[in-house]
Amino acid sequence: MPLKHILYRSSGNTEVFDKDCEEILRVARTRNSEAGLTGFLHAEDGVFIQWLEGPEEEIRLVVESIMNDPRHRDITVYSEGGIDVRKFPNWTMGFSSGRQAPLFEWLTEQGAPSHDLRGFGQSLQQFLLLRAA
Ligand SMILES: Cc1cc2nc3c(=O)[nH]c(=O)nc-3n(C[C@H](O)[C@H](O)[C@H](O)COP(=O)(O)O)c2cc1C
Repeated sequence: MPLKHILYRSSGNTEVFDKDCEEILRVARTRNSEAGLTGFLHAEDGVFIQWLEGPEEEIRLVVESIMNDPRHRDITVYSEGGIDVRKFPNWTMGFSSGRQAPLFEWLTEQGAPSHDLRGFGQSLQQFLLLRAA
């Protein structure tokens, strides 16, 4: 079955952001391992960045749940579509927070192109891969 991915950012919708992260990860890891999905989530200052990958149909169903989840809004998709190999094969859903690894500082240091959706998405992907390494 073809492998698909999605990379997006969103804004958390509640005050209890840390608590949301724990609950999201608990459910995500169970469902992802059942569905054969892998990926990485970074949470910082009320913002989520997530890469999710796996078989086409399973991705479609889980992404539908995520897109309708009231715990976040203003979802910007940086990239989605087919991939040849998984980027996060060992993570049912890896996680890092801004307290361990400040993403926005890193993006500034890297001179990430904030005006270019595709280029910016590539910088985000690179950051998540570094966190997962
Ligand atoms: C930022 C964010 C990331 C999420 N990531 C996943 C995920 O990787 N896998 C997953 O099954 N659910 C994830 N969820 C939770 C889903 O939105 C949903 O609550 C969960 O899959 C249960 O689905 P259901 O409510 O349709 O039963 C995420 C939610 C948020 C807000």
